[in-house]
Amino acid sequence: MKVLFATSEARPLVKTGGLADVSGALPAALREIGVDCRLLLPGYHAVIAGAGNQREIARLNDLPGFGEVRLLEARMPDTDVPVYIIDYPWHYQRDGGPYQDASGHDYPDNAWRFALLSRIAALLATPLSPLEWRPDVLHCNDWQTGLAPAYRHFIGGGAPTLMTIHNLAYQGIFPPDLVGPLGLPASSFQVEGVEYYGNLSFLKAGLYYADWISTVSPTYAEEIQTSPLGMGMEGLLASRRDRLTGILNGIDMADWNPSSDLHLPCEYSARAPSGKKRCKLALQQDLNLEIDNDTPLVGVISRLTYQKGIDWIVAIAERLVADGAQLAILGKGEAAIEQACLALAARHPGRVASVIGYDEGLSHRIEAGSDIFLMPSRFEPCGLNQMYSQRYGAVPVVFATGGLKDTVEDGVTGFVFTEPSVDGLWRAVQRALSLYHDKPAWRRLMQAGMQKDFSWEASANQYTWLYQLLVLAH
Ligand code: ADP
Ligand code: GLC
Repeated sequence: MKVLFATSEARPLVKTGGLADVSGALPAALREIGVDCRLLLPGYHAVIAGAGNQREIARLNDLPGFGEVRLLEARMPDTDVPVYIIDYPWHYQRDGGPYQDASGHDYPDNAWRFALLSRIAALLATPLSPLEWRPDVLHCNDWQTGLAPAYRHFIGGGAPTLMTIHNLAYQGIFPPDLVGPLGLPASSFQVEGVEYYGNLSFLKAGLYYADWISTVSPTYAEEIQTSPLGMGMEGLLASRRDRLTGILNGIDMADWNPSSDLHLPCEYSARAPSGKKRCKLALQQDLNLEIDNDTPLVGVISRLTYQKGIDWIVAIAERLVADGAQLAILGKGEAAIEQACLALAARHPGRVASVIGYDEGLSHRIEAGSDIFLMPSRFEPCGLNQMYSQRYGAVPVVFATGGLKDTVEDGVTGFVFTEPSVDGLWRAVQRALSLYHDKPAWRRLMQAGMQKDFSWEASANQYTWLYQLLVLAH
């Protein structure tokens, strides 16, 4: 089984969120069970600088709208997974992030940048590919690769396509007059096609033309077939429900392992948990929180967006502090939410610490140093931090949605609340805080989470079955 995994970010080369964790880990897990999975990535600075053993394998001169595009073959650092890199500096080698410039504005030519990624993904999956290696399945991820199933459909022939939704909130919506220039037939611009409320949607294109759709948890697969979590795509998704599967993400159990984590001041495990206390004291010191092992330390690591329910956390913060807890927030995102977090820390020195920025090492140290982890997302396709938290003995408090509901067991490995409100969150936090002082009960909760198996193996097997089904049905 050969699979081309097309994605716009992959750890450790380039990451803005969970998609990068999945793209970094799933292909490697697939290779371990015998699937020849290879990545396709845009050649951002970080990718060109970080991928090993690069060599040119093709030059593409006849892509309408683009100049000469070079295709490189290389290896992912750490895992050695083969990666095809689209070397087109004009589109990809920029100073900012993969989607936005340094000041947080979307690049104005994102439609072109990700149409190119989609186009090459499709090309490599058809008989027109310049490469000898031809995938049996083209696996696309999120809107950035959403046009690939459409291009593959219009080229005709080639591998079946799987479109994975990591987050339906990002739909890749662009003006309708790009349809022709991007090489899509005018006839595709209709409800039964790429059109979405008068615009062109890359994600809709993927959901409409892909042979199969998957998303990253069984609960989210159900939720997106109705409003509001279908975010306008619920009709299409419900009509394709017999080709829509939820496969839960795993986590990188080697990267996120408290007994061998080089980011931590000290190691610990479910069997030998005492090091967690040292991690907590070191974190309190690092973040200028009062150093006290008996104070419950509550951690948050998140993109700071509406999705993540950070405003609910801000709303309970005063009560949390009044109840004797500490709060450590690490995040980056919308300016208003960043400001609210900073203001909280300013009001409660020694009790609340807010670090605005992206810091992988600190994210590991917060998981290790926290007693409780908050993730009250309004919706969450899968979510990774609640799994990292269980593994690190930071008992998660989550809203019952998507992958949070599928991975946290209320009263067994964490606290799950069902009323989407500040009060709902607060009641769950109160349950956590009161149990925290019952040491044996708390230890049981921590241990149960730390012993859970969140490895990629089970998911990789499910993807393999799906690939086989797609090949057989094609
Ligand atoms: P999403 O992809 O919606 O942001 P996930 O929970 O799936 O949510 O994945 C988020 C990933 O990004 C996790 O690996 C998390 O640790 C990481 N992360 C988020 N914000 C930060 C930050 N400010 N610093 C370091 N890591 C972060
Ligand atoms: C998205 C989702 C998150 C999921 C991640 C990886 O960013 O918001 O829930 O875990 O993709 O699939």
